[in-house]
Amino acid sequence: MSLRLGDIAPNFQAKTSIGDIDFYEYLGNSWGVLFSHPADYTPVCTTELGRTAALKDEFAKRNVKVLAVSVDPLDKHIGWINDINETQNVSVDFPLIADETREVANLYGMIHPNSSENFTVRSLFVIGPDKKIKLTLTYPASTGRNFIEVLRVIDSLQLTANHSVATPADWKHGEDVIITPAVKTEDAYEKFPKGVKIVKPYLRYTPQPNVD
Ligand code: BEZ
Repeated sequence: MSLRLGDIAPNFQAKTSIGDIDFYEYLGNSWGVLFSHPADYTPVCTTELGRTAALKDEFAKRNVKVLAVSVDPLDKHIGWINDINETQNVSVDFPLIADETREVANLYGMIHPNSSENFTVRSLFVIGPDKKIKLTLTYPASTGRNFIEVLRVIDSLQLTANHSVATPADWKHGEDVIITPAVKTEDAYEKFPKGVKIVKPYLRYTPQPNVD
């Protein structure tokens, strides 16, 4: 059975490029992004890990710890990180998990046998501080992920975890948000002092509550 939204993200211990870790201990009270890539020394993966390293401050700003995983061994990870740093002009300092036994890949259903018997697909999990899975993404090996989109979703997840709002299509941090149907319109004005715009009784907007 694959992991679904709201499920507890399984804990594991692993060898990584920054040393041995216990996943839960490493995350602490942070949010987490755990993402798999098919193999080291491959071009798309090189750009993905470079992009993630370049966005280090953006992940940190959101209290998110990032971990990458593939079934390659640790010595290969270490050599490849040098290449990523050189070619992408970054410093990869988040952990790359060396999942030679496929423990993590199997726990998280990252191997899709009809896509590849041997390698992980591009799976990505966003995990909340409660260790529950908040987002899953699965991309094929041939398509690199959009890490700005990952940050955008994290903005939405963190906002909607704390306010009775949802985010509309293509929403970006700072834009108006949708008041959830559970909030009665007569209560909305008090709950959202920045204003309430009613387009239809079921389609109501308010300025994003958690920004100045
Ligand atoms: C890549 O990362 O470039 C890649 C990996 C596996 C298959 C195709 C592309």
